[in-house]
Amino acid sequence: MVKMSLIFSLFVGLLMVGLVSSAKFDDLYQTSWAFNHVQYDGDTLKLNLDNYSGAGFASKSKYLFGKVSIQIKLVGGDSAGTVTAFYMSSDGPNHNEFDFEFLGNTTGEPYLVQTNVYVNGVGNREQRLDLWFDPTKEFHTYSLLWNQRQVVFLVDETPIRVHTNLEHKGIPFPKDQAMGVYSSIWNADDWATQGGRVKTDWSHAPFVASYKGFEIDACECPASVAGADNAKKCSSSAEKRFWWDEPTLSELNVHQSHQLMWVRANHLIYDYCTDTSRFPAIPTECVHHRH
Ligand SMILES: *[C@@H]1O[C@H](CO)[C@@H](O)[C@H](O)[C@H]1NC(C)=O
Ligand SMILES: *[C@@H]1O[C@H](CO)[C@@H](O)[C@H](O)[C@H]1NC(C)=O
Repeated sequence: MVKMSLIFSLFVGLLMVGLVSSAKFDDLYQTSWAFNHVQYDGDTLKLNLDNYSGAGFASKSKYLFGKVSIQIKLVGGDSAGTVTAFYMSSDGPNHNEFDFEFLGNTTGEPYLVQTNVYVNGVGNREQRLDLWFDPTKEFHTYSLLWNQRQVVFLVDETPIRVHTNLEHKGIPFPKDQAMGVYSSIWNADDWATQGGRVKTDWSHAPFVASYKGFEIDACECPASVAGADNAKKCSSSAEKRFWWDEPTLSELNVHQSHQLMWVRANHLIYDYCTDTSRFPAIPTECVHHRH
């Protein structure tokens, strides 16, 4: 009997190593609002937007550093006026935030991906790009990699944006506040599509965004632990080394740098760094960022 259970647990152990990549929605997340606009069949989660409500979900835990990924299939057909967001955020007035916002469009016109980074409560770092595929046809993977050196936004493992730690230039970098992981869909027809000119056509509701492939490989921070202790717990030291602190992840590798250059050359629509009407003086981090 002992032997059998040993073999069995070895077998389960092997299985778990094999399956570590994706978790069930409810292992990591919970619906945070509009429960009746959320469907989950044990594999795929759907958020619905109609003229009564949008919907959203949030991670059960908060995290400091690591990688968070999710597969999303965006609203098909007419998605004009809708925004689907996937983001990490800390709490409080001086919060940090890393955003993916998917701006819907009329049937056949391209979705835009707007990214933003908030540091100590201040955002205004929007970038917008279109994608090299139709994000409403299939699931694609959207990820945030976060360590002490950089925040990288990835689409199917292709980097689309890097926010580099430039603390040595006196520019604050988000690294002390644990973040939750969130997603939601809502009506934003006052600004989202073609500058707010195209409104949501409610006769096409419900607008449905689908999710699967829930992955969080990050340093979990219990709410009961003080911020400074979490920062210590989640930093590599002589005793423990987190994979995201490996030197190879302190910046993009050559292949990834080329991918990012390709994305920016072919798909970038807007970059706050070059918006001189909004920022007559170029934001400091843009001067130092290589991209
Ligand atoms: C929402 O849309 C439905 C279907 O178009 C319509 O019957 C209903 O009156 C609308 N409700 C509100 C609150 O606008
Ligand atoms: C929607 O499509 C129009 C026309 O192709 C394009 O100019 C715009 O950038 C697209 N995206 C959004 C969110 O407006």
